[in-house]
Amino acid sequence: MYTLAELKTITDKCRRCRLCRNRTNVVFGQGNPKAGIMFIGEGPGYHEDMQGLAFVGPAGQLLTKAIEGIGLTRDEVYIANIVKCRPPNNRNPREDEMEACIPYLRWQVKLIKPEIIVCLGSISARNIIDKNLRITKQRGKWIEKKGFKIMPTYHPAALLRDEGKKKPFWEDFKEIKREYFEIKNQSI
Ligand code: URA
Repeated sequence: MYTLAELKTITDKCRRCRLCRNRTNVVFGQGNPKAGIMFIGEGPGYHEDMQGLAFVGPAGQLLTKAIEGIGLTRDEVYIANIVKCRPPNNRNPREDEMEACIPYLRWQVKLIKPEIIVCLGSISARNIIDKNLRITKQRGKWIEKKGFKIMPTYHPAALLRDEGKKKPFWEDFKEIKREYFEIKNQSI
């Protein structure tokens, strides 16, 4: 079994799909290796590719606000993506790219063992929960899978395009907070 650090050195050299050709940095994901909660987005954008860190651009700033809004910090949680290299011009990752990359994410989940996984946006939720998931219909509802409590919600970038999504997104975060602290209190 690799450690997270070993896995990161492997992904840094990864050439399993075409996205390796244009990357500046592999965005492995970052945060608390023992996090109780993991946030999973779609894939790196410009800022993430430049810095090698997940969710550090405008969508990332919104995610940071939401995490802090539920009484946590980015250092307490773990943040990663379905694909670890930036798709050209921020296009959606292709099926074969996601298929090539997702074993790394599964490995991260196995090592971190979070109680809660939050899927940010439909690409993340379709890969992790159900390939036919409709984000507008299923956001905010818990799904239990392989011992994880999984919540799909909107991608923070969607809130930048559509103000109307801010309220439901915030409602989902309040529910995530409730569940997270309930689990935490049970384990004391
Ligand atoms: N959008 C994502 O899905 N992930 C990031 O890391 C940044 C923006």
